[in-house]
Amino acid sequence: MTTITRPSFDLDTVPADDRSRVADLIPDPRIADAYVHRSIEGMDDFDLLDYAIEEGENIILAGPTGSSKTTLFRAYAASRGLPLCIVECNASMDIGTIIGRTTIGADGSVKFVDGDMTLVVRYGGVLLIDESNLAHPRITAGFHGLTSVAKRMSIPEAGETVRAGCGGLGKPQPFLAGTAFNPRYQGTVRLNEAFANRFAIPLDWGYERAVEAQLVTSERLLDMADNIRSLAEIRTPVSTNSLMEFERHADRLGLAMAQRLFVNRFAPEERAPVSRALEANLEAIEAELSA
Ligand SMILES: Nc1ncnc2c1ncn2[C@@H]1O[C@H](COP(=O)(O)OP(=O)(O)OP(=O)(O)O)[C@@H](O)[C@H]1O
Ligand SMILES: [Mg+2]
Repeated sequence: MTTITRPSFDLDTVPADDRSRVADLIPDPRIADAYVHRSIEGMDDFDLLDYAIEEGENIILAGPTGSSKTTLFRAYAASRGLPLCIVECNASMDIGTIIGRTTIGADGSVKFVDGDMTLVVRYGGVLLIDESNLAHPRITAGFHGLTSVAKRMSIPEAGETVRAGCGGLGKPQPFLAGTAFNPRYQGTVRLNEAFANRFAIPLDWGYERAVEAQLVTSERLLDMADNIRSLAEIRTPVSTNSLMEFERHADRLGLAMAQRLFVNRFAPEERAPVSRALEANLEAIEAELSA
């Protein structure tokens, strides 16, 4: 194995006109502190993202809701000081804010104004194509150029083709393309094969006990969550954040309220077994929370 270098972003490579917009896309570094890392084959997740940038490989995460797919990319960008653009592939996708739009100035001149994604592609940063299995293949095909080896995006409105990270002044800047999707989400389309094939680093991003143990106090609550997750008749996911919220509710609103709100997350026909599981563990959970 060889050494991997940590990317760094030089804001001075961004032309003055765009500099403040790009600076605004860099997440607050404190976001990185709140993120609990996971290790993949002994490698820290952020190191793997560093590697991906170095080699120009793309990352694809598959996992259930609330397993930190989006958070990973946000925390990583925060940690490395990279601009971040999250493109959500749902029905409210607005091409103008993503790619950009043509404007007409007071003097009648026509000008193309970059969207956030175009800024990140042009000057470098992290591009997360989020919830990509909610998008029609027509949309994901739009990312084929960027996720190919050439890493190019054409912007017909601006009459140009941009090579990722190379549109600034001076040295090319780091660029990472990632995507995340939830394989079980209703209403999704199967991920287009040609799109999926462009991601050299596919990772399963399920709920992880070691991560949850750092975010949740009660071991018994985690045992119970694993147990509910293993039941075929319970289709509702037990997300990491729902366990964090249970503990917050117990602390701020009392155990009875926490219990009720937790059970209400489930479909009506699932509530009785979930309620029984919680009831059976409640005393132990309470003891751990008050310890
Ligand atoms: N490793 C972690 N470190 C810190 N917080 C976490 C972690 N995992 C989950 N969380 C908490 O869970 C919440 C949900 O995570 P996130 O939105 O990243 O999930 P997701 O996998 O993108 O879910 P979805 O598929 O619904 O988009 C976060 O806002 C955070 O509060
Ligand atoms: Mg997400």
